[in-house]
Amino acid sequence: MEDRVIIFDTTLRDGEQSPGASMNAAEKLRLAHQLERLGVDVLEAGFPASSPGDFESVRLIADKIRNVQVTALARTSRNDIDTAWEAIRGAAAPRIHTFIATSDIHLAHKLKMDRDQVIREAIDAVRHAKGFTDNVEFSAEDGTRSDRDYLCKVFEAVIEAGAATVNLPDTVGYALPDEYADLIRYVRDHTPNIHRAVLSVHCHNDLGLATANTLAGIRAGARQAEVTINGIGERAGNTSLEEVVMAIRTRKDLVNLATGIDSGQIHPTSRLTSMITGIVVQPNKAIVGANAFAHEAGIHQDGVLKNPMTYEIMAPETVGLARNRLVLGKHSGRHAFRDKLSQMGYDLSSEELDRLFARFKELSDKRKEILEEDIEVLVAEEILRVPDQYELTYLNVVSGTVEVPTATVKLLIDGKEVKGAGFGVGPIDATFNTIAKMTGSRSRLMRFSVNAITGGMDAQGEVMVRLQENGLVALGKGADPDIITASAKAYVNGLNRLEYLKQNPRLSPSEGLR
Ligand code: KIV
Ligand code: ZN
Repeated sequence: MEDRVIIFDTTLRDGEQSPGASMNAAEKLRLAHQLERLGVDVLEAGFPASSPGDFESVRLIADKIRNVQVTALARTSRNDIDTAWEAIRGAAAPRIHTFIATSDIHLAHKLKMDRDQVIREAIDAVRHAKGFTDNVEFSAEDGTRSDRDYLCKVFEAVIEAGAATVNLPDTVGYALPDEYADLIRYVRDHTPNIHRAVLSVHCHNDLGLATANTLAGIRAGARQAEVTINGIGERAGNTSLEEVVMAIRTRKDLVNLATGIDSGQIHPTSRLTSMITGIVVQPNKAIVGANAFAHEAGIHQDGVLKNPMTYEIMAPETVGLARNRLVLGKHSGRHAFRDKLSQMGYDLSSEELDRLFARFKELSDKRKEILEEDIEVLVAEEILRVPDQYELTYLNVVSGTVEVPTATVKLLIDGKEVKGAGFGVGPIDATFNTIAKMTGSRSRLMRFSVNAITGGMDAQGEVMVRLQENGLVALGKGADPDIITASAKAYVNGLNRLEYLKQNPRLSPSEGLR
C-alpha cells in the first residue's frame, strides 16, 4: 500500500521572502484560494509577529480558507506564539509552527545561547503552543549543519512536549542528497519517540539540489515536504512543489508514494504566483517553464506526433497545460465568459464580472484569440489589486526617427486627476520620466524586461520592472498588446508596490529570520 506525503506549501511565507516578492493581503488570499484548489494539505500563511501587515493577511486567510490546515510561523518567544495563535485561531484546522536554530554556528553567533538553553527554549515554546492546539510543528533551523545526536535530543524533547510534526530544514541549501537521506534515517533510528510525530523535510536551493534533497529525504522516510510554487524563496529559492509532486507521480514505480495534489491545477497556480509576485518563471524551468513541453528538434517532433511517450514523460494535460488553449474570441458573450472564469476557478461577483467583461471586450477588439493566460492577466489587473495610490488613465507617446520622444500622461493620484508631459531618450524613457516627475518618485529602475505572454504578432506584451528606493525593492508588472502601455502599467504597478512596502515595513535580516 502506498503512503501519502503531506504537502506543506510555504509560498506565502518562505516564498514571500524572495527579494521584491511581497504580496498584499488581497493577493495572498487569492493565492491561498488557488492553493486550496490545488490540494495542498498545509498552507503556511505567514509570520504574524514580523509585521502588522503580515498578521492581518494571515488572519484573513485563516478566516476564509476552510479545507486546508493553515499554519503561521513563530520564533520560540511567547509573544511570537501568542501572536501566531491570535492570527490563526479562526482557521478550520490551525497549526502553530515554531522554530529555533540548532547548529553550533547559529547558537554561538546568532542566538548566543548554549545547547541546553536552546532545548529548554524549544520545549517551552512547544508546550506553550500546545496550550492552544495539538497541531504544533517544531523546526530545527539549520538542522543539516547541526550535531546529529544533539538534533535527535532536541526532536525527542519537543515530541515529548507535544510536537506533532518535526521538521529538519536544510536552511542554507548545503546538503547533498545521499547525505540528507542518511541524516533523515539517522534521526528516525536515534530519536526514540519519532514514531509519534511526522518527520518533515524543508530544503533550500543554493546548490540547485532542493528537489533532489527533498525526494531523498522522503525516500528515507520523511512524510511531509515543505515546498513553494515555482520554487520561489529566499536567495536561490525553496524546493519547488511542482517538481516534487510530479516526480512522485511520474516515478510512482520507484517511489510508491502519493500526494493529494490535483496536478491539473499546477499550471494555473504557477501562473497566478508569477503574476502576483512579479517573479517570472525561467523558460527552461521543469514542469512550469514555457519550454518544459516544447519540442524544437524535428526528430523529437516527429516522435511525439507518432507517440507522445517517445519524448514526453508526462502529458502536458496532467499539469494543467491544455494542448489547445484557445478559449474565447471577439464574439464570445458574457455567459461564455462567466463559464470560462468559473472553470478557471474564479468565482466573481456580478459587479466584478461586469468590469472584467468590459476589459475582455476591449482586448478582443485588439486580439483575435483570447487564451487562458490573457484572462488571468485581466483578473490580476482588474480584480486582484487593492485600491492603488496611482492609476494610469491616459498615455500618449510620440516617437520616431525624427521626433524627440515625448509622453503625455494622466494619472489618478489618490483619486485626483493629474496631467503631465515629458521627454526621454526613447518612448519608454519619456513615459517613465514623466510618471516619476508626476509622482515625485525617487526610485531607481534596476531591471526592465519584456516577454510575450502568448504567441503571434498580436501577442500581449508583459513587462516587468524592478524598482529600488531606500533599500526597498518592488517588482511591477503590466500587460498590454502595446508594449509602451504595458511598460507604463508595470512602472505604475511598481510604484504602488513601493508605496505598499513603505507602509508595511518588515523585519530586516539582522532582526530575526528574514
Ligand atoms: O529554512 C528554514 O530553516 C526555515 C524554517 C523557519 C523552517 O524556513
Ligand atoms: Zn526556509
